[in-house]
Amino acid sequence: MSLATQTPPVEIESLVQRREVGYSLEAPFYISPEVFDLDVAAIFAKHWLFSAAESEIPDAGDYVTIDIGPYSVIILRDDDEEIRAFHNVCRHRGSRLLNESCGSIGNIVCPYHQWTYRTDGELIFAESQPHTFDRSRFGLKPIHVRNVAGLIFICLDENPPADFDEVAQFLEPYLAPYGLPTAKVAHQIDLPEEGNWKLVMENNRECQHCDGAHPELVSAYFPLFGYTEEDITPRLRPAFERYQVAAADLERACSLSGFPRDERRELDNRPTGFQLSHLPLDGAGISFAPDGAQVCKKLMGSITDPKFGDLSLHMQPNSWFHFLSDHAVVFRVLPLSADKSIVRTTWLVHPDAVEGVDYDIDSLTAVWRATNNEDRELVIGTQNGVTNPGYVPGPYSLVEDDVEAFVNWYVKRVDDYLES
Ligand code: FES
Ligand SMILES: [Fe+2]
Repeated sequence: MSLATQTPPVEIESLVQRREVGYSLEAPFYISPEVFDLDVAAIFAKHWLFSAAESEIPDAGDYVTIDIGPYSVIILRDDDEEIRAFHNVCRHRGSRLLNESCGSIGNIVCPYHQWTYRTDGELIFAESQPHTFDRSRFGLKPIHVRNVAGLIFICLDENPPADFDEVAQFLEPYLAPYGLPTAKVAHQIDLPEEGNWKLVMENNRECQHCDGAHPELVSAYFPLFGYTEEDITPRLRPAFERYQVAAADLERACSLSGFPRDERRELDNRPTGFQLSHLPLDGAGISFAPDGAQVCKKLMGSITDPKFGDLSLHMQPNSWFHFLSDHAVVFRVLPLSADKSIVRTTWLVHPDAVEGVDYDIDSLTAVWRATNNEDRELVIGTQNGVTNPGYVPGPYSLVEDDVEAFVNWYVKRVDDYLES
């Protein structure tokens, strides 16, 4: 029996209402099966979720499946190259249709009694039905899907948050130069984490822990997280001076290539909360490598300057992205139970980049493989801590404003759901 199933039932509404702003959440938010069910219903079944990179399904008939709580979804490229999403449920007697996490199909054939659906969801074969049977009434149930410059988002709700259009429109010019729709999936890792999905996200939303926990990652970043110029100590002065030079170089590179420069942070004031920033990298200033060096010889899309910094995108509730000149790395978190989650990391490179010639998987993935494993340990530690009856919520620091924004967003969305 898991710890989650041993917890007593919780009064969800009072739990949400008595949440103290500026403090971490009470334990049941992280360990209660009732809150887990609420999270699926109020967050994952209501909001736009980053689900896959378009380049995971490059050809007609290619599909991925994605499990979200009790839901299972098929995302595929149909015969007309259109990207579609369907509930992974047969319209006959409900069997799951596709059991693999990815693959390629001509039609979708139910393994139970072979009802057969075209890739656009239309039912084309159902054996032994009466002559009055109307096949057109039993196509696959569609799910809202949007492709934002090569990133596929789905929303399970029939009325998805309408503000997604504006967010997509804002993001597209930033993402387009990276050529994501035709990029190549160089590598993908699924990392199970023994922690509530919110702890995984909260851990991602601050880097106060990075100095001690992530030696590989911090060598690519300037060690200035959360500092303003007034806070710069003599010890940090050399790093700050390097940063100023790199920031000016990045500014110049963006302006030369006509790359937009408006940063936006709207993490907790809209249904589709997001943040986009574009920061220079330390060392060689190119990529995620111990010395900031390039890890793939071919640059992404139409990017021509290797020193193009880290275009970083955070989206509520379940994703974050880093777009670099030579590769992109995209992250998706899905909840498995109150105390288990799964983090998928996908590395994308230029479609012509050849493994062993332009990049090798070990160097390409080293920094984030290490960082993910280190973060996993931190999440386990926090899950163990919040499960301890001695846990009480603690205050956020000044450099944890994105954690707080994530939690504010979450509580507001849950509160709205309960009210409705
Ligand atoms: S349940 Fe799918 S064909 Fe019967
Ligand atoms: Fe981390």
